[in-house]
Amino acid sequence: MSNPLAPEWLSPPVDANALHSGLWPASMRRDSSGALEVGGVAVADLVQRYGTPLYVFDQDDLVARAAHVQGAVTAACARHGVTGSVYYASKSFISGHVVAWIEGAGLGFDVATAGEMAVAIAGGANADHLEFQGNNKSEDEIAQAMSAGVATIVIDAPIEAARIQKIASSVDTRQKVMIRVNTGVHADTHDYLATAREDQKFGVSPEEAIALVSTIRESSHLDFVGLHSHIGSQIFRTEGFLEAATRMVEAYQQVRRDDEPFTLNLGGGFGIAYTEADQPMEVGELIDAIVDHVAAQCAAHGMPVPNLAFEPGRIISGPAGVTLYSVGVTKPVTVHEGDQVATRLYVSVDGGMSDNARPALYGANYSARIASRESGESPVLVRVVGKHCESGDIVVNAEYLPGDVAPGDVLAVAATGAYCYSLASNYNVVGRPPVVAVSGGSSTLMVAGETLDDVLARDQGLSRGQE
Ligand SMILES: Cc1ncc(COP(=O)(O)O)c(C=O)c1O
Repeated sequence: MSNPLAPEWLSPPVDANALHSGLWPASMRRDSSGALEVGGVAVADLVQRYGTPLYVFDQDDLVARAAHVQGAVTAACARHGVTGSVYYASKSFISGHVVAWIEGAGLGFDVATAGEMAVAIAGGANADHLEFQGNNKSEDEIAQAMSAGVATIVIDAPIEAARIQKIASSVDTRQKVMIRVNTGVHADTHDYLATAREDQKFGVSPEEAIALVSTIRESSHLDFVGLHSHIGSQIFRTEGFLEAATRMVEAYQQVRRDDEPFTLNLGGGFGIAYTEADQPMEVGELIDAIVDHVAAQCAAHGMPVPNLAFEPGRIISGPAGVTLYSVGVTKPVTVHEGDQVATRLYVSVDGGMSDNARPALYGANYSARIASRESGESPVLVRVVGKHCESGDIVVNAEYLPGDVAPGDVLAVAATGAYCYSLASNYNVVGRPPVVAVSGGSSTLMVAGETLDDVLARDQGLSRGQE
């Protein structure tokens, strides 16, 4: 029976053991005992070997997702006779293994700091496949990007054009640059009002971009190669993407020259399912719609279609990852709401906002299942919470799990591959969990977990005390 404390979108499942398709890594299933396995590896084996909390990536799923996006962009662009590039958004999750997988699938990398750039390059990415973003790149970072041979730097503010020109001329090199345009499009609703999104830190207005193109063209060491737009993340509707594309084509019309190669980078932001209520559009269809729209807009203006680029992160890394936690404490909490009384079962796990900040940051919703076993008990409404000292330390805000969920169970939380490890912290002096890949029945450690010693070692007060 539905619990009055449950959000409207969540109904009690017929089977609280079932894995909703589209939410979990492609290879995740229950084995004959009812426990979960992923990549052919039993969750129990992963927990025994690496402990919990543990980030687990289905390697084949991540690679297939990257290849699918690249294939969709290439095919859609080829229909209009232009090239289509995909830059994987490293901020969603990057590590040496991921760099090799993404590079192998033919994608480039969007990097936003010297750190992400360093991982990409050390992981074997071709610098010519990197594009460097960010609203406050330091001179050092720009110099590092140039000396590494990063293909494109995306200028976020007029002051940056001068900064890049100064550094490029000091090392006598030419640097390809794009300009990030703030189209004013509101990311995920019908609300396209320009004013709705003008008041934020990324990019410049279309008018400023047009003026900046002239400045760049007059700069001795900069080559203008295109315009960039990214309207936000976790977007489900096509309308925002199409409206942004319309505005970018208008800007392209203002700045294009017949003799100059030009790329329109339309960013990332394709939404994924975190719960059964999320119904994202198939990404290939979304890309087709955007590319065809750009082509139609260009035709209407009598212009050739530019080369196109996209910059997705979450759609590639998100659903390929799960986090495993051990349940430590369960506690029914009685809640009085008006004249109603209802109970929610709080399920405390051994991680929390230090390994997944998204619920606390954005009120993000997630889905969970008992991973270590199946249960025939009727589902009850639970809130999966972490072990940190914040009441907002929520892992899964609302979910139905079998009523016998108990200490010692292992829980799997879906779609944690993007923006979880990359946003992790040491809050309450906990180490970041390890990250492993599973494929073909074996597991590989991708990133070692931080031990307490690792965390304490940086504290100079403690090491002084030991001298
Ligand atoms: C400039 C830029 N490009 C691409 C992305 C990737 O977005 P997503 O992971 O939602 O595809 C982001 C995310 O914040 C971004 O800021």
